[in-house]
Amino acid sequence: MRIVLLGPPGGGKGTQAALLSEALGIPHIATGDLLRQAVAAGTPLGREAEAYMDAGDLVPDDLIVAMMRERLREADCRKGFILDGFPRTRQQADAMEAFVRMDAAILLEIPEEVLLQRFAGRRVCSECEAVYHVTGNPPEVEGVCDACGGTLIAREDDREDVVRNRLRVYQEQTAPLVQRYRDASLLREVDARHGIAETHRRLLEVVSGLGSMRKP
Ligand code: AP5
Repeated sequence: MRIVLLGPPGGGKGTQAALLSEALGIPHIATGDLLRQAVAAGTPLGREAEAYMDAGDLVPDDLIVAMMRERLREADCRKGFILDGFPRTRQQADAMEAFVRMDAAILLEIPEEVLLQRFAGRRVCSECEAVYHVTGNPPEVEGVCDACGGTLIAREDDREDVVRNRLRVYQEQTAPLVQRYRDASLLREVDARHGIAETHRRLLEVVSGLGSMRKP
């Protein structure tokens, strides 16, 4: 099954994509994670992407499309995948449609005031990128990753000024894709204001309705 998760920054795409990946046995592919790994490794892509990411702007389409074209060719994608953070512009969606057909786009719907609380409390592992929230999804030991023992930090682009820009960029460049998927009869919607487990349950219900799902 090939699924695009849509929704605003901070809306829980990464959290839900990770759970769904486990339930369906298909990879979770997040452009934000791939880019942060490239930045950390100091690759040419990472060096080019870093300034855009720090400002909360989108990395140029040609770089993203080339990165994703390569990633989606890997063997683990043969049975399907969950895309998180891609496509994010009309140009990216056009390019993607030229090399892959999607089964569904699922929109995580969430009001802005909830988003702002999620940004403020988000912590990520500096080693393995696992995502936590100080109240919504706290680690067992404060400041320490449950998965690998790494130190938890706030993301650079979760600063208030950068968050505002990311939300603006989302409205201008990514939100119009919702209508595109609705017009193509591929759109499903999930109310993502609930806790992580309840949102996951609702998401699984929607995915089950798409058929051919491996039982969680
Ligand atoms: P990216 O990493 O994709 O960021 P984003 O889309 O802005 O999404 P986030 O990672 O901020 O949020 P999320 O929806 O995954 O929420 P999460 O699960 O973490 O992109 C970063 C940058 O990379 C972009 O600004 C851009 O520069 C560049 N980029 C990436 N893709 C690109 C592309 N295709 N084209 C161009 N540029 C690109 O949850 C948020 C918080 O809430 C966490 O703390 C979590 O624990 C908590 N939480 C989640 N769900 C719940 C819940 N149900 N209840 C309580 N807490 C919850």
